[in-house]
Parts: sequence; structure tokens; C-alpha cells
Amino acid sequence: MSGGGAMAAAGEEVPNKMVILKRYVTGFPSEDDMEVVTGTAHLAVPPGSAAMVVKNLYVSCDPYMRGRMTKHDRPSYVPDFVPGEVLVNFGVGKVMASGHPDFKVGDLVWGMTGWEEYTLVPKPETFFKINHPELPLSYYTGVLGMPGLTAWAGFFDVGKPKKGDYVFVSAASGAVGQLVGQLAKLTGCYVVGSAGSDEKVNLLKTKFGFDEAFNYKKEQDLDAALRRYFPEGIDIYFENVGGQTLEAVLDNMRVHGRIPVCGMISQYNLEQPEGVHNLFQVVAKRLRMEGFMVFDYFNQYYKFEEEMAGYLKEGKVSYVEDVADGLEKAPAALIGLFTGRNVGKQLVAVARE
Ligand SMILES: NC(=O)c1ccc[n+]([C@@H]2O[C@H](COP(=O)([O-])OP(=O)(O)OC[C@H]3O[C@@H](n4cnc5c(N)ncnc54)[C@H](OP(=O)(O)O)[C@@H]3O)[C@@H](O)[C@H]2O)c1
Repeated sequence: MSGGGAMAAAGEEVPNKMVILKRYVTGFPSEDDMEVVTGTAHLAVPPGSAAMVVKNLYVSCDPYMRGRMTKHDRPSYVPDFVPGEVLVNFGVGKVMASGHPDFKVGDLVWGMTGWEEYTLVPKPETFFKINHPELPLSYYTGVLGMPGLTAWAGFFDVGKPKKGDYVFVSAASGAVGQLVGQLAKLTGCYVVGSAGSDEKVNLLKTKFGFDEAFNYKKEQDLDAALRRYFPEGIDIYFENVGGQTLEAVLDNMRVHGRIPVCGMISQYNLEQPEGVHNLFQVVAKRLRMEGFMVFDYFNQYYKFEEEMAGYLKEGKVSYVEDVADGLEKAPAALIGLFTGRNVGKQLVAVARE
């Protein structure tokens, strides 16, 4: 929401700190690919418009943002970011001004917003209302927001779990993985997670109730590790990382196993993605490997919100988040997702209420 001269008459003009993309990225991103600058924002909507202005309280750091930092020759499933413009992603905010009949000043909402203090939202109907403000508002970037819905939809709708299934989750302590594991436990599955540090492994076993967990960085032979934890094979592999992990998993799947393909973070910074050499296992074991996108499930969001809020209140689901304080820390927080620096869901507190 930089500039905005056309609205100058509409309301108060305030400084607006924001994180912009400096240049398109190839390979591993660096903090220097982004810049924190200060522009201005108007705390009013253009007269007659159905837009709203939100004050951003929390913004989310998500791995898919890396893809948006690359210039694509063919359009990707989400638009590329534009150098010089503010980064956008899911966030939690408070409505400061609104011309939309369904949103009023003071409403707490979450949706696609800017990495900045104030955002003009042209289409407020793409936002969700926050129905459980008694829970921490930051949860709406994670367990009660996009990653939570991803875990819920991917595990139940794509994974089609049954009680007693053997479930493996990679990137298991992260935003999505920690919830998949707990939903699997609630379903009566046997659950093993992999993560990149002993601290995370400990969290999986003690806080999130996984049956077993291992540090994949310490395993010389992933296939041997999986055989150790799944002597009878894997029914559901919730795929978050891709690459060599997927290859090792395919050899350990059971007949008629399911692989909800949520993401492949190990590939996002590679200029040449790795190959997977044993895809014939999909045939031999009659596997169903199915990609999915969370936005296809947004129409079920409020159903999900009620269910997950219930689990949180009943203590059936635990949640760990990693909060960076201030937009200045946002570039480092985002990059940290690709080195595993985050412990739990990574987000940025823009302004605490
Ligand atoms: N399909 C959808 O609609 C959808 C929606 C949301 C997220 N996703 C995908 O879900 C996955 C998890 O996302 P999230 O938000 O929950 O992230 P997250 O797990 O909270 O954070 C990313 C984690 O990935 C792990 N990682 C990073 N580089 C890795 C590598 N080279 N090999 C193995 N692990 C690596 C790190 O954990 P360790 O320390 O354990 O390595 C890091 O902490 C991502 O692939 C994301 O793109 C998909």
C-alpha cells in the first residue's frame, strides 16, 4: 500500500513499514533479496469502494513464498512477486476502515495481506472472520489458518486414513507436520515423524505424541531408518519434503498405500530438481499419490475452524509456533524455513494488540 495519492483526501495518512522484494531469486534466497522500507498508508477506503483497510497484527512465513520470488516463464499456480512491490501472504489483521457490507471497523480477520503494517484489501470477501478470538490470534496464521486447513484436508480427504494405519510424516515438527501427526494419533494411527534436529525430535515425541521420531540428518541410510520404524511398511506418507526422502519412502510403502503430496521443500531452491528413480513402486504397490492445494478446501474453512478450535480447547491438539518480532526480522524468518531454523510454525508479529 505504498503511495496511494488518489486516496489522500479519504483519511489519515500514516507511515507504513513494509517488506519488498528487491530482485527475482535463483537458487537459495538471501535476506538481501528483500528490503524493509517505509512508505505511507491511508486509513480509509476510496469513497464508494467495497475495499477495506486492515492493520496487520501477524503475518505468516510459508515455504511456497519462495516459488513466488522466482520469475516464471510459464505462469505458476500463484502469481510471481514483483520486484519493488510489497510481499503478500496470509496474515491476521484488524479492520480499520471498510466499505464492504460484511466487514466493519474492529473486526478481526485473516486472509491474503501485505508484509506491511497496513494493507488496502480490494476484495474483502476473500478474507475469513475470526470466530475464536479467545484463542491466540497468531494461531490464525497456523493451526487455525492456512497450514491447519492444509493438514486437515490433506490428511483426511487425500490420505483417507483408517484406524491402525501406519503413518509417516516428513518436516514433522513444522506448521503442517505437527498437526498431521496429531490428527493421525486422534484417528488411532501409528505415527512416525522425521525432523532436522534432536530438539525437534524431542518435541515430536513429548509434545505432539508421535509414537516415534528420528533426526533425518543423522541417518546415513534413510531406507534403513524407515525399515526400522516401519517393519510392516507405511500406509500413508504425508509428503512435505520430496527428493531422497520420497525415494526412500516409496520402497517402504505397503500395497494400496496413499501419499498425499503436500509439498517438496527440499526441491524449492534447486535450479535442477532431483529425480526420483523408483516410481515403478507406484505400480507394483498400487499406490495413490495425489497432490492437493489448500485453496481448493477454503469452502470448508469454517467447518475446519470449529473442529480445530474444539481440539485446542479440549487439549487434544498442542501447538508450537516460532514468532519473529517485527517486520525487520521477516526476511531472516522466511529464509530460516529452508535451513530448518524455525521450531514450529514460523510467523512474524507486526503489531501486538
Ligand atoms: N499443498 C498445499 O496447499 C500446502 C499448504 C501449506 C504448506 N504446504 C507445504 O507443506 C510443507 C510444510 O510446510 P510448513 O508450512 O509446515 O513448513 P514448516 O515445516 O513449518 O517449515 C519448513 C521446514 O521444512 C524443513 N526443511 C527445510 N529444508 C529441507 C530440506 N532440504 N529437506 C528436508 N526438510 C527440509 C525444515 O525442518 P527440519 O528442521 O525438520 O528439516 C523446516 O523447518 C512444505 O513443503 C510446503 O510447501 C503445502
